[in-house]
Amino acid sequence: PFRQRLLVVANRLPVSAVRRGEDSWSLDISAGGLVSALLGVKEFEARWIGWAGVNVPDEIGQKALTKALAEKRCIPVFLDEEIVHQYYNGYCNNILWPLFHYLGLPQEDRLATTRSFQSQFAAYKKANQMFADVVNAHYEEGDVVWCHDYHLMYLPECLKKYNTKMKVGWFLHTPFPSSEIHRTLPSRYELLRSVLAADLVGFHTYDYARHFVSACTRILGLEGTPEGVEDQGKLTRVAAFPIGIDSDRFIRALELPQVQEHIKELKERFSGRKVMLGVDRLDMIKGIPQKLLAFEKFLEENPYWRDKVVLLQIAVPTRTDVPEYQKLTSQVHEIVGRINGRFGTLTAVPIHHLDCSLDFHALCALYAVTEAKKGVLILSEFAGAAQSLGAGAILVNPWNITEVAASIGQALNMPAEEREKRHCHNFHHVTEHTAQEWAETFVSELNDTVVEAQLRT
Ligand code: G6P
Repeated sequence: PFRQRLLVVANRLPVSAVRRGEDSWSLDISAGGLVSALLGVKEFEARWIGWAGVNVPDEIGQKALTKALAEKRCIPVFLDEEIVHQYYNGYCNNILWPLFHYLGLPQEDRLATTRSFQSQFAAYKKANQMFADVVNAHYEEGDVVWCHDYHLMYLPECLKKYNTKMKVGWFLHTPFPSSEIHRTLPSRYELLRSVLAADLVGFHTYDYARHFVSACTRILGLEGTPEGVEDQGKLTRVAAFPIGIDSDRFIRALELPQVQEHIKELKERFSGRKVMLGVDRLDMIKGIPQKLLAFEKFLEENPYWRDKVVLLQIAVPTRTDVPEYQKLTSQVHEIVGRINGRFGTLTAVPIHHLDCSLDFHALCALYAVTEAKKGVLILSEFAGAAQSLGAGAILVNPWNITEVAASIGQALNMPAEEREKRHCHNFHHVTEHTAQEWAETFVSELNDTVVEAQLRT
């Protein structure tokens, strides 16, 4: 059967490289929501274009890595240290990421260091141009080019400059903030303009799509329509495509003997205690300190539970060169130390905090021991998933520590019947709206959008 060729362009490749010798590399699966979802996309003849997470200054290394990645259908974009510093640590993760999550622009940039802002934005554009060059070198007529995330907002315009016929989609994996926030960004016009060069622009939720359209109307003065944004007769289609996971991969993993074995071990290890699990990248927007403080409050108020519950927090380190992330690491360690000091005994501590990523099978085993099959989900109402899993989860405002502490109590004391009902709701949602379905919907919408545009001209 015909399989549409798809070029997936994202800053981070699904595998990250570690150098073993002059011309030898080993590859590990990368962490993060974008990679987890896109790994589940199978029905396409897909190739990935992105950064392998390392600096490779020499030609021998670049050649060997290109070859190793080709086996995984990945094509590297080589970014040198200076570019990574200015584009990835700087513009992407110190400016756009916090801004899109309502943390505002960094103070220093707002006040004095306009020069550094300018040079970071210049590096951002340069990096996007480098991605565009690699895409262009591998593009074949009819390919769908799917650009991802806030790292690559300048990419759609670069691609269309090469070839107006290229089918270009862009998808954002973060919130798009209210136009009141977006308008504080010095490069607000250029980024919006460039994204609008795409044929289809997608968001996780309807609210983010709406915010984007209103940024285009208020900041660029363009016309918003129910279909998207119009500029002198040219329509950029804008829509919401809620993402999913590869649920089959989890279900299959649970059947493996080594996973079953691991589950048994964990159950013995934590017998007599209920297991609460948190899996997050160590990031300001994940609310890890808030979660820990709520757990502390819960233990304070519920002495009965002190030796009957354990919180396992997996905090996967990323962006470790960005100062905000370093500060967060020490802050979290301090809180964990305090709580374990207060409520730990000679034989047990209430929090197991791990600064590392776990392989997929270990993670599946952990999910399975959180009250097997009928675990309760406590979910931030600000997470994109709250709009689809809201009926099954206990939704909380993570800033309200009292509310979160109470919801921990509610989850631990929930009658089996209600737990099952909520779990059932979530399970159906997650198995029916998969990552595969998400990708198919986006790509077919992109194909349709291009056909409709051709009919109009
Ligand atoms: C989020 C972003 C992804 C990113 C991931 C991991 O999910 O939307 O684009 O890849 O975090 O972050 P990192 O900076 O390590 O790639």
